[in-house]
Amino acid sequence: MSEPKSKNITWHGAEISQEQREQAIDQKGCVVWCTGLSGSGKSTIARRVEQKLLDLGKFAYVLDGDNVRHHLNKDLGFSPADRTENIRRIGCVAQLFADSGCITLTAFISPYAAGRDAARALNAEGRFIECHIATPLDLCEDRDPKGLYKKARSGVIPSFTGISAPYEVPENAEISIDTTGQSIDESAEQILSYLRENGFLD
Ligand code: ADX
Repeated sequence: MSEPKSKNITWHGAEISQEQREQAIDQKGCVVWCTGLSGSGKSTIARRVEQKLLDLGKFAYVLDGDNVRHHLNKDLGFSPADRTENIRRIGCVAQLFADSGCITLTAFISPYAAGRDAARALNAEGRFIECHIATPLDLCEDRDPKGLYKKARSGVIPSFTGISAPYEVPENAEISIDTTGQSIDESAEQILSYLRENGFLD
């Protein structure tokens, strides 16, 4: 990671260990990093998982691209540099949420493998779960829930992921979900099963 711009700053180490914090709230924090094309179902699935986790009495939260771009990242657009900065910031925020014990779900296209890997590297082994929402482009475009693919095809929106901007498919995602012919609950269950099998829902 690059050096901070500020000088004369001192890292203040935590007095409460992660273990103590997790014992107090009886759960383990992690990042479930949902990546995929626009319209693939990232936000919908993440929100369904959040709901189910809350039903189970777990503390969970969704960080969502469209929402975060309204405030924290309102200064960023969709150039490669801005997308990289978007994901860098969210990687940091997600790690802080996970450190607090929260089961943190993110829903960002996050098109570059390097950005996703950098977000992963901020977390302890096993605490970053990459979840590729692998819905094919054709289906995302058919769904076109926000009418953006239509605008991208007609050239109104430049640099649109999958049409005129790249999406680097994850090669080693812990979870891969193709929503073709699958209900939201079934997709959510794939994530919940992973969390169950890996000790996050004991
Ligand atoms: S990312 O590439 O930087 O990870 P992010 O997930 O935050 O993207 O935002 C993507 C959302 O912004 C899409 O779901 C869509 O609603 C909207 N959007 C607007 N313009 C674009 C564009 N050029 N490419 C992709 N998504 C866009």
